[in-house]
Amino acid sequence: MIKVKIIRQVMPGMEPYEESFNYDGPTDISIAGLLDYLNFHDDIVNDRGERTARIGWDCSCLQGVCGACAMVINGTPALACKTFIKDLKGTEITLRPLRKFPVFHDLIVDRSSIQENLKASNAYIGKYQPKNNKDHSLQYAAAKCLKCGLCLEVCPNYVTGQSFFGAAFTNDCYLIATRNREKSKEIGRVYASHFGKNCSKSLSCIDVCPMDIPLLSVIAKLNRRR
Ligand code: FES
Repeated sequence: MIKVKIIRQVMPGMEPYEESFNYDGPTDISIAGLLDYLNFHDDIVNDRGERTARIGWDCSCLQGVCGACAMVINGTPALACKTFIKDLKGTEITLRPLRKFPVFHDLIVDRSSIQENLKASNAYIGKYQPKNNKDHSLQYAAAKCLKCGLCLEVCPNYVTGQSFFGAAFTNDCYLIATRNREKSKEIGRVYASHFGKNCSKSLSCIDVCPMDIPLLSVIAKLNRRR
């Protein structure tokens, strides 16, 4: 029997609370599968046998592509659809929403600040101008960024609404710098003011990136352009 503790919140601005559930299903399913099981297996009841509301969480692809299911699983930011129960230690699973974003409902957060930061800094690729092939493999890796927000969860410098935009932003900067000659200089300045000057190099973003983007290489290449 696995005890599943979930930090829930009915609506934005309301007090979060903890609610626990018992799970005795298979362990070779993901946390996304577990949430589906709890929500739909039976009438949803908590570990005290009380009827309760369905658990709010977000997903789209269920295959590690959209980033919507990002949450904190046993203290580690991760994608629910890529994290399997059998890979977690112990008989207790704790789920809570990402802390760096406002909570909409239960495990669903508002990550629109990531897109707002890109908009505010005009970090869009615009006209595509392939420059040379030597950048291709890093461009390919950087383009995999899901904007899931896991890197921002562990970043000691990222605070929503402030001018440091975090690692997710660097991937777009790198793509623009290497694909659009006209924007290359401008993006160097934008990168410096929204990332380069304030990154304290904890590099914890690298540990949690679900796409294994070589962020150190991305950052090093951009630092060289400042
Ligand atoms: S549901 Fe798309 S990444 Fe998990």
